[in-house]
Amino acid sequence: MDQQEIIAGFSPEITNLLPILHALQDNHPQNYLTEDSLRATARHLRVNLSWIYGVAGYYSMFSLEPRGSYIIRVCNSPVCNMLGSSGIIDALASILGISSGETTSDGLFTVEEAECLGICDVAPAMMVNSKVYGNLTRESLETIIDELRTMKNVPE
Ligand code: FES
Repeated sequence: MDQQEIIAGFSPEITNLLPILHALQDNHPQNYLTEDSLRATARHLRVNLSWIYGVAGYYSMFSLEPRGSYIIRVCNSPVCNMLGSSGIIDALASILGISSGETTSDGLFTVEEAECLGICDVAPAMMVNSKVYGNLTRESLETIIDELRTMKNVPE
């Protein structure tokens, strides 16, 4: 679906801003909001482009830069932090060759840090797109990354 079709699916009310931005970002193969998509949204809602930029920049779930097909969000809230989330980020850096906030050169993985994912009982935890993983270890990370590399279709 192209971005005009997505935007046209929402009535031009300001309360639809976040749903529109989510839909546009989810539709982009590189999981981000392009300048063109923000301009089209501003036109549709009849609001200032700089205000749209402000909203998109405020929420950490939106990105204004291209990201990988798999967005790995490592929880860094207190429980996960106490149980080793920094070691998980270090292990991902070692396995993928990127630091938090970066994307692999093949465009497959982006690593980000996140607030509590709501699954503290299985800390340390992370999400890959919409799927959650807990009780992470270096070994389980290697298995997860290998599985993701071999999947043909990227899950949402
Ligand atoms: S603190 Fe990590 S899932 Fe809650």
